[in-house]
Amino acid sequence: MKKIIITIDGPAASGKGRIAKYIAKKYNLLHIDSGLLYRKVAKLLIDYKIDLNNTNQVKKILIKTKKLTLRNNKNLRNEQIGKMTSIVAKMNLIRNYVNKHQIMLTTKKTKKKGFVVDGRDIGSVVFKNADLKLFVDVKASVRAKRRHKQLIDLGEKSIYAEILKEIKLRDKQDIARSNSPLVVPKGANIIDNSGLFNNTLKKINQLIGQI
Ligand code: C5P
Repeated sequence: MKKIIITIDGPAASGKGRIAKYIAKKYNLLHIDSGLLYRKVAKLLIDYKIDLNNTNQVKKILIKTKKLTLRNNKNLRNEQIGKMTSIVAKMNLIRNYVNKHQIMLTTKKTKKKGFVVDGRDIGSVVFKNADLKLFVDVKASVRAKRRHKQLIDLGEKSIYAEILKEIKLRDKQDIARSNSPLVVPKGANIIDNSGLFNNTLKKINQLIGQI
């Protein structure tokens, strides 16, 4: 039976991950968090102290790293890695590598009914023929407020104004890059996730019911 593919794109801290996790559980799909894969590559490049201008060095590390797993790690979620990730995610070489991994993950044998993949270019570049495309939209100030609260709740230091600046910078980097910029994919349904999460889920369940 054909496996379904649902894509979720949207800016940083818009709630894509939370939505993807909900969909994965409710509909028995495998969640592929493409941001996590980019973060893993960024962490590798930091750990090996790779000079990003040295394409050969970057290539060598990618060739050496045959597999990226979907295993999450709290260390990958900090702002330093987030910032570095949006820089390395501009590189063609790295985008091709991560895209290949995402496609590979969807060709593996699995008992799941399909895949829910979230990121910035999933419905526009990686899975253009997905069964359902979602684009999550939330104003930067609301996203910054949520991220700030999340960090405080985790017991980390956070200054709202700085978080807002970081989020705006990441938006700018994701939208302005020439390589797979963040766009509303053709045929995507725009989901406003500024209000109650239950309202977002209601809308999403309606759309999935129509697949
Ligand atoms: O979604 P998350 O914040 O974990 O993504 C980290 C960074 O990876 C983003 O800021 C973005 O620059 C990059 N990314 C991307 N394309 C994707 C997923 C993430 O460029 N499909």
